[in-house]
Amino acid sequence: MDSPQLDWWRSAVIYQIYPRSFADANGDGMGDLPGITSRLDSLKSLGIDAVWLSPFMRSPQKDAGYDVSDYCDVDPLFGTLADFDEMLNRAHELGLRVLIDLVPNHTSDQHEWFKRAVAAGPGSPEREFYHFRDGDVPPNNWQSMFGGPAWTQLPDGQWYCHLFDSSQPDLNWENPAVEKAFEDILRFWLDRGVDGFRVDQPHAMGKAAGLPDHPDVERAGAGFIEGEPSPPMWFQESVHPIFRKWRAILDSYPGERAMCGEAYVLPLSFMALWVRPDEFHQTFNFRYLDSPWTAADIRKTIDESFDAFGSVGAPSTWVLSNHDVMRHASRMGGDFGRTTASDGVGPNDPQPDAELGLKRAVAATLFTLGLPGSMYLYQGEELGLPEHTTLEPQFRQDPTFARTNGARVGRDGCRVTLPWESGVGAANGFNTTGKSWLPQPQIYAKYARDLQEGVPGSTLETYKQALRTRKELNLGHGTFEWVDELCTDSVLAYRNGSLLVTHNFETNETTWRFSS
Ligand code: BGC
Repeated sequence: MDSPQLDWWRSAVIYQIYPRSFADANGDGMGDLPGITSRLDSLKSLGIDAVWLSPFMRSPQKDAGYDVSDYCDVDPLFGTLADFDEMLNRAHELGLRVLIDLVPNHTSDQHEWFKRAVAAGPGSPEREFYHFRDGDVPPNNWQSMFGGPAWTQLPDGQWYCHLFDSSQPDLNWENPAVEKAFEDILRFWLDRGVDGFRVDQPHAMGKAAGLPDHPDVERAGAGFIEGEPSPPMWFQESVHPIFRKWRAILDSYPGERAMCGEAYVLPLSFMALWVRPDEFHQTFNFRYLDSPWTAADIRKTIDESFDAFGSVGAPSTWVLSNHDVMRHASRMGGDFGRTTASDGVGPNDPQPDAELGLKRAVAATLFTLGLPGSMYLYQGEELGLPEHTTLEPQFRQDPTFARTNGARVGRDGCRVTLPWESGVGAANGFNTTGKSWLPQPQIYAKYARDLQEGVPGSTLETYKQALRTRKELNLGHGTFEWVDELCTDSVLAYRNGSLLVTHNFETNETTWRFSS
């Protein structure tokens, strides 16, 4: 490893690999671990510090791998444990750290634990692994995040709780056996050498005692409101001791292993409780991702971020795109009637302005990359990839689409395979066969990496240059102050050490200037 710096996670640029769509070595149309290994050099040359891999563990793939049926094995779709080890070794040789996804709120309904619970029947200790309840009607009014009720009834009459798809039963974290099982899972991967975890939906793991109704079912999926009690299925205090135990486990390994919580918790002052010194190292700053891109909103969000995370001695993270939200190169493409970042756009919806979106997105990324803290990038944003906004219904795989009868198109549009070499097969070098589990739109050919490599002014070279400078000046560990005399209603300017960053929200331009 060439980054011996202590607290690497405080400043790291972490690149999210979505294994299904990154690179496909065996040509079956689904990305895989050997594909990732073969392309790690290009990530090194991009200038990132670490990668985070979305799930590649055994899974029936009902929610693209976030429905795990065996936490300690690789799904054959992606390869084998030996392929994982090879990928990890190669990443480490290149000085890249590797975080993997841990999904502790729910398993797949094909996990042995759930299968045993179903077979053992009501009242059995096996059912205590999950939330089972009796009744003629669903035990409470909770709604699934993917649409429809959060309860499904088994033929024996009992209901089980699932805050996501019915194939993703929620685990019962009040059961010490569940805690123990996950500690073993953490150790399994830490022993293999992973540098840490991105933890899925940690704010959902605790449930209020007695599983009471949500006071306002319309808001069943909504966040915390200051001054109001936490909703019964989110943000329960009971989760914090679990994370403290996990932190102690990570700390017992050499080499600063780190964990980032996908804690969708607001306001930021509340999210900060999740990154106290003995809990998560980082959380995703979704407030930044969700903020309207205006000077007033972004200034407020940045101030709140530094205040909140600073109050517990944690770094802020910054993130603009991931596999659950519309790519920011499209999201920022004007006002086309969307209300939430997590819903994509379909062929019959008003379409974003691609040119405006890309210009704003690159400027927004440059503005963000100058900030101290840790930055998450989502695969393909370094190419300026737009969302696939015209994906036909027959290709859609996100359970959100089916559970809402198509009312919400879901997240497939940001998960399309990457174009590496323009014109190499129908999937532009994602593999050599041209197969792709989600078809690429034709325009992806012009965003292919080979067309941008070494081309001054391309999105790829712009990212590379900014990442190089960020590293040279150690901006991630830097300082932050607004330059008020340059700030207006449409301009924000800040200083990080010798770097002055100015962003104009009207012309969508960002400049970096240096002083000695
Ligand atoms: C993941 C999603 C997934 C959900 C349920 C999220 O936070 O990022 O992709 O569908 O958790 O596991």
